[in-house]
Amino acid sequence: MKPNIYNVETVTRVHHWTDRLFTFATTRSPTLRFENGQFTMIGLPEASGNPILRAYSFASANHEEELEFFSIKVPDGPLTSRLQKIRKGDKVLVGRKPTGTLLTNFLLPGKRLYLFGTGTGLAPFLSIIKDPETYEKFDTVILVHGTRMTADLAYANFLTEDLPQHEYLGEVVRRKLLYYPTVTREHFSNRGRITALVESGQIFKDLGLPKMDVATDRAMICGSMAMLKDLRTMLVGFGFQEGTTRDAGHFVVERAFAD
Ligand code: A2P
Repeated sequence: MKPNIYNVETVTRVHHWTDRLFTFATTRSPTLRFENGQFTMIGLPEASGNPILRAYSFASANHEEELEFFSIKVPDGPLTSRLQKIRKGDKVLVGRKPTGTLLTNFLLPGKRLYLFGTGTGLAPFLSIIKDPETYEKFDTVILVHGTRMTADLAYANFLTEDLPQHEYLGEVVRRKLLYYPTVTREHFSNRGRITALVESGQIFKDLGLPKMDVATDRAMICGSMAMLKDLRTMLVGFGFQEGTTRDAGHFVVERAFAD
């Protein structure tokens, strides 16, 4: 990526959730515009001038002053092995051309919006649930986060404590947002893979909602390739059609980070 297609930003905050997950925030160049749910390329400055870049969803909403990103740490990963060591004041490259398919504009109108994310696939949904327009379009927004361990449920406190008390968004969040964390590899109140919970109907029972119906429900999916594939197949089986950047549908999938 040439220097004119990324901005050099300064790290303002770093938070390590676990030895595998961290969040960092950066300054935001006033010229950077993006849609909530989109991703951009992130990298570190390189003396050679050829930085390694990876796609990262914005975890911050487009009305926020700073940019925020939620990342895994891969010990021998070309970018994340170094990115995980960044500190406040360090420089990060942020691509100037955000893109992506997880936009409410690419969904047909509906009553309920399901946001299904595994691992760091939660990130774009953090942007979407901080967007007031999401709540104008849908009566109920259900954020489902699937992880291996409870410690991986990053942002759980933000979602249960901070956001419902947010000065401007709190009222609509309390009324319309449901958060459903689920864990697969240790004991927790909600257990099992997202696909299994949808198939058995357990998730709907727990939330007091009817089973997903193409007439009323819409969905967005972000996470590991296996999950995208399985959940997509399941929704197609329910009669849902995938939306694209050209034609709106009943659900959209982000494949940019699929491993
Ligand atoms: P599991 O523990 O049964 O593999 P990861 O950290 O590997 O990205 O996984 C995040 C979460 O996604 C885990 O809870 C994992 O469950 C789950 N997962 C992995 N593959 C699938 C799949 N094909 N369908 C649904 N969930 C999946």
